[in-house]
Amino acid sequence: MPAPAPRSTPAFEPDPVADSAHSRLPDFVQLQQQDPAAVRTELLQGLLAAPAYTAPKYLYDALGSKLFEAITELPEYYPTRTEAAIFEAHAAAMAALLPSGATLVDLGAGNCEKAARLFGIFQPRRYVAVDISVEFLHKSLASLQAQFPALAMLGVGMDFSSSLTLPPQAGSGPRVLFYPGSSIGNFTPEQALVFLRQARAASSGGGLLIGVDLVKPREVLEPAYDDALGVTAAFNRNLLSHLNRLTGADFKLADWQHVAFFNTGKSRIEMHLQALHPVPVRWPDGERRFATGERIHTENSYKWRQADFAALLKTAGFAQTHAWTDERGWFAVFLAQA
Ligand code: AVJ
Repeated sequence: MPAPAPRSTPAFEPDPVADSAHSRLPDFVQLQQQDPAAVRTELLQGLLAAPAYTAPKYLYDALGSKLFEAITELPEYYPTRTEAAIFEAHAAAMAALLPSGATLVDLGAGNCEKAARLFGIFQPRRYVAVDISVEFLHKSLASLQAQFPALAMLGVGMDFSSSLTLPPQAGSGPRVLFYPGSSIGNFTPEQALVFLRQARAASSGGGLLIGVDLVKPREVLEPAYDDALGVTAAFNRNLLSHLNRLTGADFKLADWQHVAFFNTGKSRIEMHLQALHPVPVRWPDGERRFATGERIHTENSYKWRQADFAALLKTAGFAQTHAWTDERGWFAVFLAQA
């Protein structure tokens, strides 16, 4: 090997290597964002349907995201802390099954906290944080970059629930897709299969690391979605003020009650908003009258049996699957090798 050419950088100039480590900034890209008119049309279509419904993504305006963070701290809401304990206990075993130096793709990254806890053990070469809006990622990625100056970071704003095609800036090489929190629970089993097939295609040479909430007694499930403090009720009803801003409707939050229950036949928690009395709702070019007890279906959160989810991963084309659970068997983290 030839000796490296001597560097002639004068001593008073900053060392280019050290300097790039200090001033490195994350990159950001925003892909296809729905225009406000399309969002409005989509929402009004759901509000006029019988029964009325809204997509769960509308629960997450700025206040909704904070209320969700508060939910994760509630004693009744077991998923977040149960999943964290599983990662704490088994991250090393997971890392041993994955290529090192991969690109870690964080789907629904938000504050990037969960992925950051894995950097030390997973040793990724690049970190790609994906969320619905790149705005959510600016602050968290910038402070994370300062903590991990050697790791290349990219923030991508895209709605990956419709398509998982990553922009070229995400680079090539093996990818580990990280989808924690049981967000997969918002998909019907059919939608989940479509999503997992796309995840399989996007993770060649690597794999998918995914958190899945499991079926358990109703006595545990229902309080997690209808807590004593009423934080989940606030989270659900806050959707209405978001809808008012997006559509120009005049929903009054006090007219609506939070309803959450486990639908055993469909193996899902359902969240609804239920009219407490006859409620007329108006928006610029339309209206709907809701009768007492009539509902707007705002979220499904599917609960899986471990064996059924493992089978789904196989059907989606993953070669090998591994799973770790807590001692109560409430939550599972799957690693599916592509
Ligand atoms: C973010 C979809 C995983 O289903 O448990 C929490 C959302 N809704 N409480 C879940 C939620 C009400 C959460 N996910």
